[in-house]
Parts: sequence; C-alpha cells; structure tokens
Amino acid sequence: MKQYQRLIVALDVPTDEEAVRWVERLSAWVDIFKVGPGLFLKTGASLIESIRELGKQVFLDLKLHDIPSVVAEATWQAGTLGVFSLTLHTSGGPEMVRKAAEVNPRPKLWGVTVLTSLNEGDLRRVGVNNAPEAQVVALAQLGREQGLDGVVASVQEAKAIRQVCGRRFTVVTPGIRLSEDGGEQKRVASPEDARAAGADFVVVGRPILEARDPEAVVRRITRALA
Ligand code: C5P
Repeated sequence: MKQYQRLIVALDVPTDEEAVRWVERLSAWVDIFKVGPGLFLKTGASLIESIRELGKQVFLDLKLHDIPSVVAEATWQAGTLGVFSLTLHTSGGPEMVRKAAEVNPRPKLWGVTVLTSLNEGDLRRVGVNNAPEAQVVALAQLGREQGLDGVVASVQEAKAIRQVCGRRFTVVTPGIRLSEDGGEQKRVASPEDARAAGADFVVVGRPILEARDPEAVVRRITRALA
C-alpha cells in the first residue's frame, strides 16, 4: 500500500467551498481528508469527487449501523465513489461486519467501537456491563475477526487494541490536542502520545481549522508523527 501521511484532517466545516479551500491549502502535508455525515448530507457525492480531483483521498466517517444487507450496500456505494475508508459500528454485530468486509472491491473499513462520548454509566444504560476499555477491546477483536482493516479509537485505548489485534490492524486516533493548547479535557492526547501508542493515523479537526496559523500546526503535527 502507498505510504500515506499519518495526519488526517477532519473537514468539519459547513460548506463544500470551505472544505475544498482547506484541501487545497493543506495539500502539501495531508493526503487524506475526513468527511462526516453533516457535510456529506449537504454536498453529496460531489465533494468526494472534488477532493479526489485534487489528488487526495476521502475518509467517509458515516459510522454505519444497520442490518447486514443495508450496510453492505452502503459499503459498495462508497466504493463506487472512490472513497478510501469508511466507518461502521462494530456493535452492529459479526454478521453486519462480515457482510460489509466481504464486499469487493470496497474502501478500507474502520470500525467504531465505543463512542468517546459514552462513559461507564452510559454503557450500562444501553445494556453493556463491561468497562469502556474492555468493551473497546472486545469490539475491536470482533471487528478484526470479521475482516475489518482497523478501528477508530482513543490514544488511551490504542495500545490495548494493538496488543490484541496485532501490528497489521490499522488504529486511527482522534481526540488529539497540542500540549500548548492546555485544556483539561479527558481522553485527549498529543501527537507524540499517539505515535508512542502505535497509532497509524491521527484525525485532527479544530486544532488545525481554528488555529491562527494552521500551516504551522500541521507542520508541527507532521513532524511529531514522522
Ligand atoms: O476534536 P477535533 O476537532 O480534532 O475532532 C476531529 C474529529 O475527531 C471529529 O470530526 C470527530 O469525529 C472525532 N472525534 C472523536 N472523539 C473525540 C474528539 C473528536 O471521535 N473525543
């Protein structure tokens, strides 16, 4: 596989014009851009085409969760759009994951395990009695066994996933903050932490999009991940 830059930039902006401006602006350092459901619903397939025409790849973060045939069909359609990677909820179960993974050709499939917005109490309320990290690892393992290429997980969970799922399983980590940002958020980590935890890719949005000097932040993250 081509060696891609490890920094993925989340295009969490309201319009396709803005998204394309960011792709052009960061093109020297970034190969893969993340498009989420809001922007995708607004722009449809045309933004994906525009990003690809600029020679860049799209990580389509739709976090699919439905019956197996529906998720498999969506996976196929994402493939026809030339999407590089697509997310689905591993908690959709083994058959849902396997049917999506069997689609050929298809984008890389990255599983979402436990949303970082859920704590132990929230998990119990949806019937999960595992602690969050145990649940993350169990769902990552299920994903790997059913043919996923990797998972999206916090840096704090990356090491445990690596241990259970091995070197060749891709680990993608959001929740990255630069140490100079300060802040007291839990479950955030620096790019250096992500690299040390064995992350293959980091996904960064606001620390770049809201920076006074976005190019400097991108260079700083890229250096930390090199
Ligand atoms: O926080 P930031 O703007 O860098 O987030 C970039 C992307 O990472 C978001 O689009 C979101 O999907 C994801 N994210 C996450 N968990 C967090 C923070 C962000 O999955 N705790």
